[in-house]
Amino acid sequence: MNIKKLISNRFGGKTFGIATGEYKFGKIKSAKEAAMKANPDLPIIDLGIGEPDGMADQKIIDELYKQTMVYENRGYADNGCEEYKKAAIKYMEDIYGVKGLDLATEVTHAIGGKNAFAFLPAALINEGDYALITSPGYPVLGIHTKWMGGKVYPLALKEENNFLPELDKIPVDILKKSKMLYINYPNNPTGAVATKEFYEEVVAFAKKHNIIVVSDPAYGTLQFEGKPLSILSIEGAKDVAIEVHSMSKSFNMTGWRLAFVVGNKLLMDLFKHSKNNYDSGQFLAIQKAGIYALQHPEITEEIKKKYFNRHKSLVKLLNEIGFNAKIPGGTFFLYVRIPKGVKNGVKFNNAEEFSQYLIKELHISSVPWDDQGPFIRFSVTFELQGKTEEDIFSELRKRLTSISFEF
Ligand SMILES: Cc1ncc(COP(=O)(O)O)c(C=O)c1O
Repeated sequence: MNIKKLISNRFGGKTFGIATGEYKFGKIKSAKEAAMKANPDLPIIDLGIGEPDGMADQKIIDELYKQTMVYENRGYADNGCEEYKKAAIKYMEDIYGVKGLDLATEVTHAIGGKNAFAFLPAALINEGDYALITSPGYPVLGIHTKWMGGKVYPLALKEENNFLPELDKIPVDILKKSKMLYINYPNNPTGAVATKEFYEEVVAFAKKHNIIVVSDPAYGTLQFEGKPLSILSIEGAKDVAIEVHSMSKSFNMTGWRLAFVVGNKLLMDLFKHSKNNYDSGQFLAIQKAGIYALQHPEITEEIKKKYFNRHKSLVKLLNEIGFNAKIPGGTFFLYVRIPKGVKNGVKFNNAEEFSQYLIKELHISSVPWDDQGPFIRFSVTFELQGKTEEDIFSELRKRLTSISFEF
């Protein structure tokens, strides 16, 4: 038996497990394990985690418990429950100022945002079609585009452009073959936020080139200044866009797997058709607990405050050392250019080398991004593990100042 010989080309054939996108995160995990083995007495400070450290609010948990007992909630949810969709429409109105979404045709749920991005390409991508995907960025829509026989055109997110893509630089021959544009603001990993002007440009671009927009505000309500912004608040956006609102980060509900999707009616029909053939909907008790969350946006405000304060402390510390760090516009990610090396010591040729150095020498975990220059992503979602935040920052300071970095 040689199962390797049977693996599809889309999964990399014989190279499966070697040349996949998970390679980077696998390397980080191995480096953490090796560091702990080498020096078990020095705990890892994990700034590499891409998800909240906090529990969902107790009242959301209580609601789940209650809803789990309800007989009517036991079965397949298919394309979702009306009450959850109604709560999503109200949330879009209250939080994002998007009015008048139609319950029957312009909203549905998903088992987390990831599923929504995974299911959309089946509806649109034929062999050779392109998806325009921001780089660095969340890869799921791009991966599934490739699995459908399509191609990905990366849109560089550069510091000098405030990490917004330059749509006018996309070659005409690519535009002709493009069907989807994926954007994610506030952005993972850069922490950048979109402006109304940018969204207006996106809508005009989409109309001009007949390309649909998939907007991913997974961190939409974790924006530190101004009101959260939805592309659907732009006039005409509903003609071209679909937007996926994850509950994971706004309400500390990553493991619960819940999101809602809003936007263009035909895109919604396509999405629902795709989804119906992949899953049978999220457990109704989870959707109903999700209603409680959507009706209590003050929960997100507390979460946001925590991240903001942690960002403040981290930025202060990093800048004392010589980094050029700024509190991001949103998200729990701090994205910063790496040092050149250590004074009279090693040089870092790229962010991966710096990240490996941090974990090996200082037991600090991080995520490197070398897509558009060498940047490191620190996440302020570290676990306290019985310590206070002050303890963590003082330990971080001790470790980081034990090395003289060169910038
Ligand atoms: C940019 C972005 N989009 C989507 C997701 C996925 O969210 P969900 O938990 O709803 O699948 C993540 C998760 O890390 C993310 O960073």
